[in-house]
Amino acid sequence: MKISVVGAGYVGVVLSAGLAKLGHEIILVDIEEEKVNKINEGKAPFYEKGLDELISEVKDKIKATLNLKDAIKDTELTFICVGTPSRKEGYMHTEYIKAVCMEIGLTLLRKQEKHYIVIKSTVLPGTTEECIKIVSDVSGKKMPNDFSFAMNPEFLREGNAVHDFFNQDRIVIGSTDKEIIGKVKQAYQGLDSPILETKLREAEMIKYANNAFLATKISFINEIGNICKKFDIDTNVVAKGIGMDFRIGPHFLRSGIGFGGSCFPKDVSALAYKATEKGYAPRLLNAVLEINRDQPMKLLNIMDNKLNGKIKGKNIAILGLSFKADTDDTRESPSLQIIKELLLEQANLHVYDPSAMEHVKKLFPHLTYSANAQEAIDSSDIVLLLTEWPEFENLDYKDKHVLDGKNVFDADKTHLRPKNYEGICW
Ligand code: UDX
Repeated sequence: MKISVVGAGYVGVVLSAGLAKLGHEIILVDIEEEKVNKINEGKAPFYEKGLDELISEVKDKIKATLNLKDAIKDTELTFICVGTPSRKEGYMHTEYIKAVCMEIGLTLLRKQEKHYIVIKSTVLPGTTEECIKIVSDVSGKKMPNDFSFAMNPEFLREGNAVHDFFNQDRIVIGSTDKEIIGKVKQAYQGLDSPILETKLREAEMIKYANNAFLATKISFINEIGNICKKFDIDTNVVAKGIGMDFRIGPHFLRSGIGFGGSCFPKDVSALAYKATEKGYAPRLLNAVLEINRDQPMKLLNIMDNKLNGKIKGKNIAILGLSFKADTDDTRESPSLQIIKELLLEQANLHVYDPSAMEHVKKLFPHLTYSANAQEAIDSSDIVLLLTEWPEFENLDYKDKHVLDGKNVFDADKTHLRPKNYEGICW
């Protein structure tokens, strides 16, 4: 099939590379020339495990361009993967998606064949219907005869996105038009994933409910972890114990300094905000967010006790800046919240991360950026482990206080723990 993908962000690039590998011809559209050039050179425009290799393998099947109209004209199916950024209070912006829909509407004025449009960006229930109205108003054409829409949420994890594309737990296709459902199935042909057909709004909500549930699991285990800490119990062992119950499952039960990244904080906030706007007070979602906001402070409280409240002027090693390992992404990283708090307390920070330092230098130019983790440790009185990078397991922590906020030394690695070691919830 000839497929256009709009938005060369995380979702769009992984989708394009994955669909190309499945045998389709892809036109990938973005507004940033630099990204377009990179992709046309056969390279990934950002770091993601395995993506560079995949793109270079399928580069004859992906053409990147700045020209959205031509991409729509030359393909039959379009996946919209542009960002839906949110403001602090949880409001979600849909202006990029709507701008793309306007362009599609204009292009359809001159296109005879039916065009199929799939929203892949994370959007609140009702947004795809607004998109349908835009295309219909601008083009004067009607759904489902002239064009059609489906909603197909993505569930890729950063750092595992290529693997996740080829091993999807399920493919959700929201639409009532059999023809577009058939086209989306055809696009994914070759994957061995169950398909769930739903209505538009149901597909939109599945993505939010999915992320909200996983975020809830994390805040739940963090709450249990904060209680365990009071009893001097290792939460990891408790998590293992409850995870063996098939009704609970072992995943997403790692306690720590809380969830970050581009999805969980933004999506749970947006769902809570929208629910409130609709007249429902989402008490559980608000509690999930509140526990998550407080969690980095728990680690700082432990540190405060260790240093008898004397943080000013102390040399503190910050190991880990990205919101999780295997990515250079620092969006909503709890590590950055901890850095801000410590700067307010006038601590001297010695910072190290194997992949995210360049981003953070732009935000905090005056920190001491260490050449490696050992240098940061050697220059400090106390060490905070804030991302679970495996290389942090094999360092010489000497007799420094080491506070682990990310399960670097979990219950299976107790033998590797440094001499003066304490975990946030264990
Ligand atoms: C998430 C969803 O998993 C994915 O389906 C969706 O498409 C995008 O959002 P991602 O943000 O890449 O993916 O990371 P994920 O691995 O889910 O972790 C999110 C955050 O939760 C990280 O900060 C991670 O450290 C934290 N986390 C995860 C925990 O604190 N404990 C856990 O047990 C699991």
